[in-house]
Amino acid sequence: MTRIAMLGTGFIGRFYTDSLHGYRSKDKIVSVYSRREESVKKFMADYDVPFGTTNMEEAINRPDVEVVCVSLPNNLHEEAVMLCCKHKKAVMVTKPLGRNAEEGKRMLEAVEKAGIFNGYLEDLVYTPKFLKAHESILSGALGRILWAKSRETHPGPHSEWFWDMEQAGGGCILDLGCHCVEIARTYIGKDIKPIEVMCWADTQVKPIDAEDHAIGLVKYENGAIGQFEVSWTFRGGLDLRDEVMGSEGTIWTNGFLRTGFEMFTTGKGADYVAEKAESNTGWLFPVGDELNELGYNHMFTDMLNAFEQGTQPKETFYDGYVVNAILDAAYRSAKSKLWEPVKLDVWRGKTGFTKDSHLQEYDADHYLVKEEVTHYGAKKLILKNKQTGKISEKIVN
Ligand SMILES: NC(=O)c1ccc[n+]([C@@H]2O[C@H](COP(=O)([O-])OP(=O)(O)OC[C@H]3O[C@@H](n4cnc5c(N)ncnc54)[C@H](O)[C@@H]3O)[C@@H](O)[C@H]2O)c1
Repeated sequence: MTRIAMLGTGFIGRFYTDSLHGYRSKDKIVSVYSRREESVKKFMADYDVPFGTTNMEEAINRPDVEVVCVSLPNNLHEEAVMLCCKHKKAVMVTKPLGRNAEEGKRMLEAVEKAGIFNGYLEDLVYTPKFLKAHESILSGALGRILWAKSRETHPGPHSEWFWDMEQAGGGCILDLGCHCVEIARTYIGKDIKPIEVMCWADTQVKPIDAEDHAIGLVKYENGAIGQFEVSWTFRGGLDLRDEVMGSEGTIWTNGFLRTGFEMFTTGKGADYVAEKAESNTGWLFPVGDELNELGYNHMFTDMLNAFEQGTQPKETFYDGYVVNAILDAAYRSAKSKLWEPVKLDVWRGKTGFTKDSHLQEYDADHYLVKEEVTHYGAKKLILKNKQTGKISEKIVN
């Protein structure tokens, strides 16, 4: 059994606890911190937690606490992490790690200096569909990854602090882009260096200072391109869709809406349908098991197995820091309207990659451009002469 302190009892603190306690799970929340006394009491009662407090340090610094799970607003992640370093407690932090790379780097350096276990809770690289897709990519089924696009859009977050620049640190680029960037980065290869970002962002609908809609391109050193599409203005629920294109194949995944569960109700007895669902009448798209579909179960299995075995989980503070650095470049680009470099003071992947050759040999004199069987049964080859560059067509019957 791993004994955990939960900091934060809101939206994600409860999803995490549902997953950690799970079905006959061996992990247990033994301490909880929340801002308000009544939230502490309610959480303790709902989850049978023996200790609760409105003092963050008190919740962390208890002898029975082995791992701290930070589920607090973005502006409180650093304070919580520093307290974990002070009391030498293993720590897992929800996304985004920091409000920017400066905060992310300070947290990364602090946990490494303190020598404590650190996990970055990016659930969307642990969904069953993601894990399966990634396995296919690692086995070479898609060849060289050329483009990885990830979209997360919904009608906007549920708590007031998200809408405040100071507390949240940004709008949908930071809140949702962090998921999309890590998804694309993992598909492309986490050891491939992200080098520059081009981003469009605007506040199209909401009366806020931050952006509520953005699209960005992240260029990687090997020539691959990541794309993120994020919005707090999308109507119709939570849209999570990814596309990966490689030299040998393609994967499209739909993570949440219209995934094979469709239901109609007049509204009689209607209640919760799924995260960010905008309606509970008419045709609906419920989700069978949100904890599993959103990756929480596989994420905590990886995190706590690594903690028990003294190894590193798949996602660490280092990954959170790299994501922060990419998003910082996106913010700079949205302002400058130019490609902006990703500033990575700490880089532990490979460097010096060049774009792989895209030339496919056909014979001594030609490269192959394309091969296709037409509807009238002819096999057509499009070839390029190596010397002259001339393109020609050859029919093989
Ligand atoms: N899929 C995901 O990974 C995912 C989903 C949602 C949120 N998050 C992240 O989780 C963190 C918390 O988000 P949430 O949706 O649970 O928020 P929330 O508003 O629902 O809950 C925030 C919790 O923090 C506590 N808190 C302590 N001090 C606070 C303060 N000064 N102001 C506001 N709350 C305070 C509140 O009591 C509450 O328990 C954020 O970093 C967010 O980005 C991650």
